[in-house]
Amino acid sequence: MPLPEPPDDAFEPVASTSDLAPNQLKRVDYRGQPVCLIHTNGRYYALSNVCAHQNIALSMGRLFRGQLVCPGHAWMYDLESGRVTFPKGVDARVPCYAVRVVGEQILIAPRPEPA
Ligand code: FES
Repeated sequence: MPLPEPPDDAFEPVASTSDLAPNQLKRVDYRGQPVCLIHTNGRYYALSNVCAHQNIALSMGRLFRGQLVCPGHAWMYDLESGRVTFPKGVDARVPCYAVRVVGEQILIAPRPEPA
């Protein structure tokens, strides 16, 4: 099922494409909220920068097999949905953002919570 798309007026620029090399993470801010911006496999993703486990900054983590690994205790996150994929059985997620690239600008907007 496709993730819900935010309205156009919710998108704001948070970085330039030249700010992130491939497979790089960067902390940015969206309206005062810390966000982990990710560039991998030719796409950009954006998740809340606050781990659902113990509030560690996800932008200090790393990518592994297309997922984001928290530097705290290695919880893993799906880049698209923000859901925890490891450890198995943990039913948690972090807020995620839709991403658009316009020219050299990266714009993000919070996705509505899934139903
Ligand atoms: S703080 Fe992120 S896994 Fe524990």
